[in-house]
Amino acid sequence: MKNDLYAVVGNPISHSKSPRIHSLFARETGEPVEYTAIQAPLEDFAGTVTQFFERGGKGLNVTVPFKEEAWKLAKRRTERAEKAGAANTLFLDEQGLLTADNTDGCGIVRDLVDNHGVALAGARILVLGAGGAVRGVLGPILAQGPASVTIANRTLARAQDLVSLFAPVAGAARLDACGFEQPTEPFDLIINGTSASLQGDLPPLSPEVIGEHTVVYDMMYSLQTTTFNQWALEQGAQIVHDGLGMLVEQAAESFRIWRGVSPATLPVVEQLRND
Ligand code: ATR
Repeated sequence: MKNDLYAVVGNPISHSKSPRIHSLFARETGEPVEYTAIQAPLEDFAGTVTQFFERGGKGLNVTVPFKEEAWKLAKRRTERAEKAGAANTLFLDEQGLLTADNTDGCGIVRDLVDNHGVALAGARILVLGAGGAVRGVLGPILAQGPASVTIANRTLARAQDLVSLFAPVAGAARLDACGFEQPTEPFDLIINGTSASLQGDLPPLSPEVIGEHTVVYDMMYSLQTTTFNQWALEQGAQIVHDGLGMLVEQAAESFRIWRGVSPATLPVVEQLRND
């Protein structure tokens, strides 16, 4: 049987772990999936997508810097993609319309709740950052019913914009915005969604936000402990996780959307740590 073709599109793309993850899923599930990486020119993402589907491609993942463009390009969006303002998963629906989904929020929630046993319901959560990465995950996090979500950002106005955008879906959760230095009480969970560590920076948080039971989650991942998690450990955090599990979970959700089969994720996380 001929394999169905999938790919991840980004620029740059050579570092992407998605081809490795999806080939492990394909091997594990026996699905006839071939998954490659495509570097789209910065000025012609749309052309790359059109060409891929015209040639019979079945589905795309989208990464930096094209997630917003993918969202705009799609003719249909799932509800969670609509709110996220960005798409990481594209496919054609039964009518052949380009459809966008966003599996990032589902990915972080599954990693936290299922893989790490972190309860989000009733939790007091501090989210750092107010860019696309944070917008992409806020909806699914709020859907878990936390007690509060505090969005702290360098540029306060961006955090306030997210509060306005997500207030209608916050339910009973208290949702508010502040600067990094403002919170001085311990949280149940701190999620770092800033890109500060890419510049070797740390958000200037008070060490008081880390208590004895605080779980720290960095959406970034690296072979060594991330800069942010290292800081948290130095402030006495007992439990820190990086974003590798989220990466594998968002991929698994894309695979499920395309193939109707949910691959096991933990063996894949383990394999990637050993690669
Ligand atoms: P992404 O898609 O990764 O979210 P983004 O939309 O550019 O990218 O958002 C980056 C986030 O990291 C923002 O919250 C940004 O803060 P600003 O909104 O103030 O720009 C944050 N960020 C980036 N560099 C940072 C730094 N050196 N210190 C603190 N926050 C930083």
